[in-house]
Amino acid sequence: MARVTLTQYLIGQQHAGRINPDLRLLIEVVARAVKAIGVNVSKGALAGILGDAGSDNVQGEAQKKLDVIANEILLQANEWGGHLAAMASEEVEEVHQIPFDYPRGGYLLLFDPLDGSSNIDVNISVGTIFSVLQNPTDGADPSENSFLQPGRDQVAAGYALYGPSTMLVLTLGRGVHGFTLDREMGSFVYTHPFMTVPDDTHEFAINTSNERHWEPPVQRYVRELQQGKTGPRGRDFNMRWVASMVADVHRILTRGGIFMYPMDEKCRDKGGKLRLMYEANPMAMIIEQAGGKATTGRERLLDVQPTKLHQRVPVILGSANEVERVSRYHDES
Ligand code: AHG
Ligand code: MN
Ligand code: MN
Repeated sequence: MARVTLTQYLIGQQHAGRINPDLRLLIEVVARAVKAIGVNVSKGALAGILGDAGSDNVQGEAQKKLDVIANEILLQANEWGGHLAAMASEEVEEVHQIPFDYPRGGYLLLFDPLDGSSNIDVNISVGTIFSVLQNPTDGADPSENSFLQPGRDQVAAGYALYGPSTMLVLTLGRGVHGFTLDREMGSFVYTHPFMTVPDDTHEFAINTSNERHWEPPVQRYVRELQQGKTGPRGRDFNMRWVASMVADVHRILTRGGIFMYPMDEKCRDKGGKLRLMYEANPMAMIIEQAGGKATTGRERLLDVQPTKLHQRVPVILGSANEVERVSRYHDES
């Protein structure tokens, strides 16, 4: 069977009138950037890129060298193509404007350049997450306000997974499509058309060390899963937690599951642990496009009206029937 590359796939979408040339270019540029990030990730200690950068990001978290490198690669790759009005990054406090000497386009690009930073030094899968919005203030320099759109308005979303193989998973609003990097050829090959999340699952993902800090509905839900066959669910559940959201979500897209980073007492003052614009929204769009559900526990994630660029939210997403059950437990409590 003839292999379809990401470029061919995107040109096909453009010819079918589903995306315009600027959005096609945007995705191609992001794909080129994540290839460069993947090269750095895979070199590890050989390139001296492990360890701390010696700085803190806007979230007050210690930056890893790779957080900084990945952020630089994405910013530089996307500045000059003429497809963007501005960018926003988990690692940068302010909106990143396009330098004056480059043309402007109509899109806003947001990203978590390196997701799963705590896994870099221990050689476990990490990723990149991105989200695309339309610039609502045509012409003028976008401000923070221009980015504050609910997730349902995303034009596209995706992630790269730097695992045993490097993958790019993408939604343009018509299903979820996965591409695997052919390292010899240097191109992403279309390997996973129309990825779907089954409605039911036997697998859950949550950092159970936070159990005592969770709210009662999540404590109840996880306790019932742990009781297995002899509990109210009447069957056993398995648990996985990679601590790279990209890797955990990719597993759910591959074989189902539920992922939770719920509200807890440790992160209540911040609003949650995960970032709405760089993590929750793009992953929620991907999961919904694959037939799953995504909620804060009390509200559909894609309907949350952002008030701050670096806002955090509780995240519960994955197989529809399990996510609905957790939402019901929140309603009942
Ligand atoms: P980042 O590396 O971009 O800061 O994101 C890490 C996130 C997410 O990928 C993961 O699910 C979660 O933090 C892990 O948190 P814990 O270490 O609290 O389990
Ligand atoms: Mn992250
Ligand atoms: Mn990150």
